[in-house]
Amino acid sequence: MSIAQEIKDRLDIVDVISDYLPLKRSGRNLSGFCPFHNNTRTPAFYVSPERQSWKCFGACADGGDVISFVMRREGLDFREALELLAQRAGVEIPAYNPKTPQDAAVEDRLGDLLESAADYFHHLLLYAPEAEEARQYVRSRGLYKRTVEQFKLGFSLDSFDACRAHFEGQGYSNYDLLDAGLLTENEEKQRTYDRFRNRLMFPIWDAKGKVVGFGARTLEKDGVPKYLNSPQTDMFDKSRLLYGLNFGKRDIREARQAVIVEGYMDVIRAHERGFKNVIAQMGTALTEHQLSLLKRYSKQFVIALDADEAGTNAALQGLRRAVDLDGLMRVGKEKNTDIRVLTLPDGYDPDDLILEDPSRWARLVQQNAVSLGDFVIQALLTGVDLSDSTAVARAAREIITILEKLPDPAERDAFIHKLARKLNTSERSLRQLAPRKRKIAKEPQRFVRSEQKQARLAQLKLNRQMVAPLATEPLEANYLRQALEYPELMVKVDLQLQRVSQPIVTREDFTNTEDQALWNHLRRRSVAAGRGQVVTISELCDSLDSVLVSRIETLLGLSASKQGEQLAARMTHSVLNWRLDKVKRHLSEVKQLVDEAQALGNADDTENYSFRCQELTMMIYSINQAKHGLSSTALRED
Ligand code: UTP
Ligand code: MN
Repeated sequence: MSIAQEIKDRLDIVDVISDYLPLKRSGRNLSGFCPFHNNTRTPAFYVSPERQSWKCFGACADGGDVISFVMRREGLDFREALELLAQRAGVEIPAYNPKTPQDAAVEDRLGDLLESAADYFHHLLLYAPEAEEARQYVRSRGLYKRTVEQFKLGFSLDSFDACRAHFEGQGYSNYDLLDAGLLTENEEKQRTYDRFRNRLMFPIWDAKGKVVGFGARTLEKDGVPKYLNSPQTDMFDKSRLLYGLNFGKRDIREARQAVIVEGYMDVIRAHERGFKNVIAQMGTALTEHQLSLLKRYSKQFVIALDADEAGTNAALQGLRRAVDLDGLMRVGKEKNTDIRVLTLPDGYDPDDLILEDPSRWARLVQQNAVSLGDFVIQALLTGVDLSDSTAVARAAREIITILEKLPDPAERDAFIHKLARKLNTSERSLRQLAPRKRKIAKEPQRFVRSEQKQARLAQLKLNRQMVAPLATEPLEANYLRQALEYPELMVKVDLQLQRVSQPIVTREDFTNTEDQALWNHLRRRSVAAGRGQVVTISELCDSLDSVLVSRIETLLGLSASKQGEQLAARMTHSVLNWRLDKVKRHLSEVKQLVDEAQALGNADDTENYSFRCQELTMMIYSINQAKHGLSSTALRED
């Protein structure tokens, strides 16, 4: 059994998820409110003990196993999530396998492509006749020439294939361009075209100064989206990058302070006018990862928030939008870490403010930033009538709930003391408002190998084997097994899928998180094989995380097919079959949700879920069509 599977077998997904959110029985499943999107009416988040999986039927429509849940919830990567779970399960995982030359080669190739793309867009902005309006726009924002050069601002032509044509001419394939995020796939994923069209381009660098992606601002008034970013990949992970850090790290260290703003333009303006300790998150909430990255350079952070709209706790909502508050609280635990929040004057963002009066910006950062705890108190008490005891109690409860997350007890106490004085009440009565403590998953209970627990585990395992014969996902495993044997197979299958108008295989086609991770590597290998570079299985293993190697070993225990004309067609069939299975299961689950929403009298949800049912029904039809199409064409042609 693979390591990932062993860890999953020892844990019960219901236990793990219950540490994060309340779940209640709902037929064979458990349900709750999805922690990944705003979901408060009909519970749309389902956990299946039988399948040991979770699924959100609401807006985020995501799902997976216990590993992917922890990855998303804690903002961890595969390896980190597995380590956390391994500790909880009392399983030891072998050390990571370092990167090999092949891996590095693939990354270099992508890196080179992104670097060239930044140059290409920059060159267009400076010289292309088509970029006249873009140049005019840059002038209108009052940016200096040297700023445009330092931040390598660029322009993407208003065309669906100019960028593709340019880089195809340099020998890059469609796959390279897709991996680099320069091309995009349309809804049905049958056609690819330039992702960035008629936009002002901002290359995004990692801390070491390598281009890893782009942000692209619309040049049309009210164009949507205002900023289009590169898609999320291993290399371009918005939750781990900070815009401007490559330029700002020295100044952050010297100033012993990092100022975190919301936008690209804010960073650029700050640097242009001499405030070089300024960096930005990129359209996502500031994460614990980003702060850990920053902690290497400084222990003081000032989070600059655009002015809040009027209203009681709009400011706090602003903070929540801007940061992962729980993560921030956790980072605060480290000694000497000083997190402050600066609310900007109404109607200003840092860019406007610095442009108007740089000295005012400097003053505000130094004098008006308040500690996180003070900010929470301030924000939640704004607009609360102190003579209205119910309102005060409500606000106090909310403040306490947040402050309770501060890991440093001394700091926590200090704030509660402060709050008690403000509200003219006792600390004791405030503490009573605090919610009952939950286990924190970050610090899992040490696994006690008591006999009793072992016996419970064995029983759990047995139960699962009896009720969940599907849990091993045999078709998916078989596909990966054959792909291991025949590196080029995956590309062939994709081609056949496209021929019958079906989406190519993506990581979402796989149920197990470890298979998703493995698929990524196998696909790269498949593309390389198409170029004549064959990587053997043992070379591949040398380059992979030990956890994935153990999965490969398990897969190799399955039998390989004979290399034959029909193998790709059979695999394509198999992909369609497992998709069909999933969609059908999904449909029956959503049908139940329709009933539930109806019973609860939720008209909106009823309508949404019914619509989803129709979509799924159409998908079933389309997959069946494709299966027919395949038997009549691909099987013969292959
Ligand atoms: P803003 O809308 O405040 O833009 O978004 P801005 O930086 O002030 O840009 P200008 O001054 O109007 O040109 C702040 C940041 O949020 C992210 C971007 O990183 C942006 O810089 N964002 C915003 C997106 O990723 N997508 C969007 O559609 C909008
Ligand atoms: Mn702005």
